[in-house]
Amino acid sequence: MFIGLDLGTSSLKAILVGADQTVVAEHSVPLTVERRHDGWSEQDPASWCDAAVVALRALAGRADVTGVQAIGLAGHMHGATLVGADDRPLRPCMLWNDTRSADQAARMDADAQFRDITGNIVFPGFTAPKVDWVRENEPDVFANIAKVLLPKDYLRLFLTGEHVSEMSDAAGTSWLDTGARDWSDDLLGACQLGREHMPALIEGSAVSGTLRADLAADLGLPVCVVAGGAGDNAAAAMGAGVVKDGTGFVSLGTSGVLFAANDGYRPDPATAVHTFCHAVPDTWHQMGVILAATDALNWVSRLTGQSVAELTGDLGEVIAPSRTLFLPYLGGERTPHNDAAVRGHFLHLDHATDAKEAARAVMQGVCFAFADCRDALAATGTTLPRALAMGGGAKSDHWLQMMATTLGIPLDVPAAGDFGAAFGAARLGMMAAGAGVEVATQPPLSKTIDPISKLTDAMAEGHSRYKHAYSVLKDL
Ligand code: XUL
Repeated sequence: MFIGLDLGTSSLKAILVGADQTVVAEHSVPLTVERRHDGWSEQDPASWCDAAVVALRALAGRADVTGVQAIGLAGHMHGATLVGADDRPLRPCMLWNDTRSADQAARMDADAQFRDITGNIVFPGFTAPKVDWVRENEPDVFANIAKVLLPKDYLRLFLTGEHVSEMSDAAGTSWLDTGARDWSDDLLGACQLGREHMPALIEGSAVSGTLRADLAADLGLPVCVVAGGAGDNAAAAMGAGVVKDGTGFVSLGTSGVLFAANDGYRPDPATAVHTFCHAVPDTWHQMGVILAATDALNWVSRLTGQSVAELTGDLGEVIAPSRTLFLPYLGGERTPHNDAAVRGHFLHLDHATDAKEAARAVMQGVCFAFADCRDALAATGTTLPRALAMGGGAKSDHWLQMMATTLGIPLDVPAAGDFGAAFGAARLGMMAAGAGVEVATQPPLSKTIDPISKLTDAMAEGHSRYKHAYSVLKDL
């Protein structure tokens, strides 16, 4: 048996998977995000460990876990978890969608070696500029940093006592030589840090350590191995069998991701596409990332006082895009704009605009943001002939029909079951315990959602209006 732990932004999820890859038990524990100032987004690292203990105990309460061979970890990427010599966090973790370090990121990005070595823009949400913000604004904290850990790697420290990261998550720090799969001494030096501040690096499918004996005894688990694991997107790709070149997925989660697996390293930072290592050796991936997908729908739900289910329950048939436009840039945007300062916009409201129409415009705006990601990937030479549909937002057929029509590709919907990041983490656990990459098969499908051909021109026209709106509004 194998356990996958996915440290998500809004919850930590644990699943227990049998040797035949059936999910035996699962449990989620909610997590909260603190937004103390505009652009800030933080979590208390202790809450991750508490949530992991609750979740692992819940699994042990539902099934016999004494045969667990390995645990795999997945987690939200880019967070700066700064720990002192005693391994305690020095401050709350600054998350992936924390954009306070826009100035530091712009300064680093202007230093050509960052794009050259990492293959990526230095985005404000990435780890290095956040640590630079701490150096400038909280010098006492900076002076006491013993290690900089990514969120799931802090959880690993709690579980195993080891300081270890793996390639996929490390690629989102701005300190990794992504082609060579190693820390860059030059980039660390440019941030007044050194290799000693970094965890050891392994592949996601390798062993990072073993569960602490005291914790294992407390949780009723054996002293099993803990796999390297992966950043949440690479882990979701492992769960969905998206490893071979040309395969990909659309993820409608808190953030939105258009993910393509690559058999080589193909960086093109100018497009604002992310080029990261995949979770298994000698593979990479590219992603267009938008910062608010279901997060935008949750925002309009809070604003209107209606639940997402109420807002989206009976939207009926997908129709040509409404004139109401929504730009989902509630916390800035990554692909394709790399613009931390831009904010959301509603345009073309009239007397008839009601809460449902607003929700429809929000879903449509997220589809247009994905079309921007498709175009950015195409500019690097990567096109996806079809994609799997993943994430909480993929439960809405209406949204998927809108998305397939906007992107102009069929979207494959996995059959009921769990093929997300926690499942991918469990698969990486299987690999750490000796299995080959072939365990990462694609899931059985329940259906394929095809583009609605009579609406594709109208969607493309809507996308043009959307792009035009950003170009006009970005400097306001
Ligand atoms: C990817 C990214 C998000 C987070 C949170 O670059 O920032 O997908 O990993 O899920």
